[in-house]
Amino acid sequence: MSVRALLTTGLLAAGAVASPQWGGNNGWGNDKTVTVTKTVTSSHVSTATKTVTATGSCKPSSVTSFSTSSSTSHSSSSSHSTSATSSATSSATSSASKSGSSSGSSSASSASSSSSSVVATTTTSSATNTNPTTTLVATATATGLDTAAKAAGKLWFGTAADIPGTGEAQDPYWSAEFNSSDFGEATPANIMKYMFTEPEPGVFDYTGAEQFLDFVEGTDKLVRCHNLIWQSELPTWITSPNVTWTNATLSAALRRHVTTLIEHFGDRCYSWDVVNEAFSDSPAGAYQSNIWYNTIGAAYVVEAFQAATDAVKASNLNVKLYYNDYNIEYLGNKSYAAQNLVKDLKNRGIQIDGVGLESHFIVGETPDKASQQANMQAFIDLGVDVAITELDVRLNVPATAATEAQQVLDYYNSVAACVAVGKGCIGVTVWDFDDTYSWIPGTFPGQGYGDLFLQPGGANTTLVRKAAYDGVLQALTGAPESSA
Ligand code: XIL
Repeated sequence: MSVRALLTTGLLAAGAVASPQWGGNNGWGNDKTVTVTKTVTSSHVSTATKTVTATGSCKPSSVTSFSTSSSTSHSSSSSHSTSATSSATSSATSSASKSGSSSGSSSASSASSSSSSVVATTTTSSATNTNPTTTLVATATATGLDTAAKAAGKLWFGTAADIPGTGEAQDPYWSAEFNSSDFGEATPANIMKYMFTEPEPGVFDYTGAEQFLDFVEGTDKLVRCHNLIWQSELPTWITSPNVTWTNATLSAALRRHVTTLIEHFGDRCYSWDVVNEAFSDSPAGAYQSNIWYNTIGAAYVVEAFQAATDAVKASNLNVKLYYNDYNIEYLGNKSYAAQNLVKDLKNRGIQIDGVGLESHFIVGETPDKASQQANMQAFIDLGVDVAITELDVRLNVPATAATEAQQVLDYYNSVAACVAVGKGCIGVTVWDFDDTYSWIPGTFPGQGYGDLFLQPGGANTTLVRKAAYDGVLQALTGAPESSA
């Protein structure tokens, strides 16, 4: 029995969520409901036996019903075992952790890759700083998200990595998963940003970026280089100059930065996010007030893309040039502003190859598949690619069975939209894959649990795939509703 997504309207939490800095808008409809029937019994040394039963109704387009029963036991915070029985008729053994562990083992009876089921398990109290009460665990046979994405005509399924930075590269379990067939692309979460690459005027430092590339290269991953011009993570010599910037002096600094980085990294970058987050949420689609806009005006975006275009041409590079932003994942004034930017650059003969849809979503507020698909198509119709560049779906912690089920659907809908528009959506990148290293808890207090994996025992222990992983895999392997 195929499972494309999970949701019961009756289970939906009345989602009180913090006002988002990235992503999230009220009013997005969830026009799909799913039948979920599962009975779960979990026991844990520190947790009472739990039973969850959920049912709901189903609308047709992307979901079918399923039922699962499972039992889970945890013997300690660093080891666990899981067993599950699924209603699926075919079964295969699947490891709940792709990276393996000497301290834990997990197996589940599940369907083949075209089928999947979800079990719930209780995580340890030391699991993560998000401290979920319930975890829906993926049980689909892991063919690899990147493998599935490529089979769907995408260039990759990828992930951000904060290297060097969070220590994730030193976590052997994180590293094993990073190097698995789940990921065919990597984005440096921070280390190529302005403050790191040009800490002093005209003094470029590639030390950290080279560490990132050393870690990634040789693993058959493409790299989305991120980013050249943004309002955040700037060096103080830009934000607090000794001599007040003029249009001419700041434009010169902008051009030097863009040109130097593009030329230095060359075709090691599949693409560059040339300008990041130029548009405001309030009023939506206006230019964001920042040092660049306030000094140069809207022309700074054009100047950055012109400098990038010139550098690509001068060095005869294949690098794709992207505009990247959040809250442009659905049609609205901010998306229209980005579309107008694409048109403007093209009219000027300036290179722009794609638009990055960050997709920092909130459980229950994620735009539905149709909304995301229509928005992607609008960009594609302008002659540019799109990519989902920073996908995560956060929730108020602790997670509940309802919010986790909704998270599966939100992940599913986002990836399914990319599949549905065909090759114009080149790939999907998650903003890290492991809650342990996610930026969410530090940025959005009270929220977390937004990634595809968690480590029940914390850093340096086995990773467990969440049900959201199955949602992504199902979206990648499901038949597209249309193709470009
Ligand atoms: C975030 C990083 O993940 C954090 O570690 C850092 O503290 C702030 O930036 N949009 C972007 C990314 O384009 O660069 C941001 O990354 C997340 C929002």
